[in-house]
Amino acid sequence: MFPFKNPLIVALDVDTLEQAEELVNILGPYAGGFKVGMQLYNSVGPEAVHRLSKRAPVFVDLKLHDIPNTVAGATRVLTRHGAAILNVHAAGGVAMMTAAKQAASEEAARAGSKPPLVVAVTILTSINQDVFNKEMGLTGSIQEQVVKWALLAQRAGLDGVVASPLEITPVREACGENFVIITPGVRPVGAAANDQQRTMTPGEAATRGATFLVVGRPITKAPDPVQAARSILDEINGTGGQVPCPTKCW
Ligand code: C5P
Repeated sequence: MFPFKNPLIVALDVDTLEQAEELVNILGPYAGGFKVGMQLYNSVGPEAVHRLSKRAPVFVDLKLHDIPNTVAGATRVLTRHGAAILNVHAAGGVAMMTAAKQAASEEAARAGSKPPLVVAVTILTSINQDVFNKEMGLTGSIQEQVVKWALLAQRAGLDGVVASPLEITPVREACGENFVIITPGVRPVGAAANDQQRTMTPGEAATRGATFLVVGRPITKAPDPVQAARSILDEINGTGGQVPCPTKCW
C-alpha cells in the first residue's frame, strides 16, 4: 500500500472508472490520496478501490452504520479491497466502532498488509446549527456533539474522525496530537460553498491541525483541475502547519 505523500485527498465523485482514472492521471502528482465515495462505489463497485489503490492511497468513504456484526463484515471486505482509510458512523456507538477496528486489524494481519486507518464520521459538514437543532432534534452545539463523538471514537480504539474544519481545535485539544482529523468542507477563497455549510480555507484548516483535507468540487469541477489542486497544495504547504501522522501515513 502506498503512503500518503501529502495531506490533500481529492474526492472522486464521478460515475465511471474512466472519469476517475482520468482525474487520477492528471492529479496524481499533486494529491496525497483519492477518495472513493458512495457515487463511484455504487456505480463501479469494488473494482474502483482495487484499481485506484494500485496507484495511490484510497479513502473509502461509505460511512458504514449498521449493527456491529454487519459493519465488521463490511470492514473486512473493504480492507481486502485495499482501502487505506475507511469510515464508520460515530452514531453507531462504541460496540460497532470497536468491531470495525478489530475486523480491519484482523483482516490486514491475515493478508500481511498494513491495516487501514478506521475513522468515525461525526456531523456532516453540510449541516448547520439550525438544522442540527430544529430538524435533527439534537440539543447543544454541533461542536460539543463532534467532540463527544470524537472521544467515543477514541474510546472505541479508532484512529480518528471526519469533522468540519471548525471543530479541528476542540477535537485536537480533547483527543490529542496523534488523533487523525480528516476535514471535508474545505473551500479556497472565492470558491463556491455548494451544499457545504461549515467551511474553511485549505490554509486555515492546515494551520489548525487537520491531518488530511478532503477536497472535491473546487478541484474536480474547476476549469483547470491541475491548477486548482496545485494552488490548494501550495496553500497547505505554505502554512507549515503539518500535523505528524501517527501511522506515518504522509
Ligand atoms: O465537493 P466537496 O469538496 O464538497 O466534497 C466533499 C466530499 O467529502 C464529498 O465526497 C462528501 O461526500 C465528503 N464528505 C463531506 N462531509 C462529511 C463526510 C464526507 O463532505 N462529513
